[in-house]
Amino acid sequence: MAQEVNYDEAAVPAYSLPDPLVQEDGTPVTSASSWFEERRPEILRLFAQQIYGKTPDAAVPLHFETVSVDSAALDGRAARKQLTLYFSNERSGPHLNLLIYLPKDRAGSVPAFVALNYYGNQSIHPDPGITLSNAWMRDNEEFGIVANRATEASRGARDSRWPVERILKRGYALVTAYYGDLDPDFDDGFQNGVHPLFYEPGQSAPAADEWGAIGAWAWGLSRALDYLQTDADIDASRVAVMGHSRLGKAALWAGAQDERFALVISNNSGSGGAALSRRRFGETVAAINTRFPHWFAANFRQYNDQEDSLPVDQHMLLALIAPRPVYVASAVEDRWADPRGEFLAAYHAGPVYRLLGSEGMATERMPGLSQPILGSIAYHIRPGGHNVTDYDWERYLDFADLHFED
Ligand code: GCU
Repeated sequence: MAQEVNYDEAAVPAYSLPDPLVQEDGTPVTSASSWFEERRPEILRLFAQQIYGKTPDAAVPLHFETVSVDSAALDGRAARKQLTLYFSNERSGPHLNLLIYLPKDRAGSVPAFVALNYYGNQSIHPDPGITLSNAWMRDNEEFGIVANRATEASRGARDSRWPVERILKRGYALVTAYYGDLDPDFDDGFQNGVHPLFYEPGQSAPAADEWGAIGAWAWGLSRALDYLQTDADIDASRVAVMGHSRLGKAALWAGAQDERFALVISNNSGSGGAALSRRRFGETVAAINTRFPHWFAANFRQYNDQEDSLPVDQHMLLALIAPRPVYVASAVEDRWADPRGEFLAAYHAGPVYRLLGSEGMATERMPGLSQPILGSIAYHIRPGGHNVTDYDWERYLDFADLHFED
């Protein structure tokens, strides 16, 4: 029987959060070195084994091919590069099509935002020079996705979420790719996407503690960064990873695992992202595992209706990013994602930031609508629903300016 969704703050059960600064054997963590050497690896291992599944360590034979370069894109206001990242020596194997916009007037390398998209690179801007994705995609008539393929009508269909010109004007590059290039977002037992590249002989699906789709999307973000480290137009020491919703979960997991991401942004990531699982407000662990059985490790299902036995909670995912700046953003009507749970996770990551000489959030009281807190742990809640708006991007740009300033 489907469980009722709780949207009543008074019905949030009492819970106690695991302490990010106490090791599993009870040893307190009192120095940066014991955080980095003992506790951080322990927490990373717990998230990998119990929640997202382990990311394979094996390196793949990456190679990059340039598809097109246009130094006078967007009416001469930008440069556009498109590349394909291959993950094996087979060109027929899974690969990631990267779209990069660079500000036209740039002196040397520029900082960048990296974010995966939902409907193909051509959906983010009507620019006719963007290659139309030919990958499988969820049908969406409104966005021009027909018979699981993008059509010409999909060009710019999602441009409201991608203020490309504003980003460029502020001096940043934008790097994006279609998330389904890494793993198409449906439950097929992990036969497509990048998972099979790592199967041992005889293996046909990830083990219970191995990665699901979110793990694969996060892995792909790191491979995009591998490429960016080779691109002289990009300052790879100033790369922010950003994601919305399920891709916000992936951005957080990428930022937690890969310390090369200098800044991490979660937009409305909710359950399994920034929101505390123990609150059971909006989408619960059981709800997400039931509707999206392919997103997490199979082990995560053990915690359906058993949130209190999780060895971690999502504040510890944010703590893994410390002391690098992290931004958690909510929307007031997006109750499914539990805005308060997202705020509290950000708040409870604070002790780790403080231990590392950075700052946490000053108060446990949520700020009002559109009153961003832009510390090392940043947070805002804006009016409206589950979406990415210009308001969100403006704050991310301010946040990046603040922390990338040299
Ligand atoms: C569903 C899902 C959420 C997810 C969202 C999205 O609503 O339940 O967990 O964040 O889809 O990705 O848009």
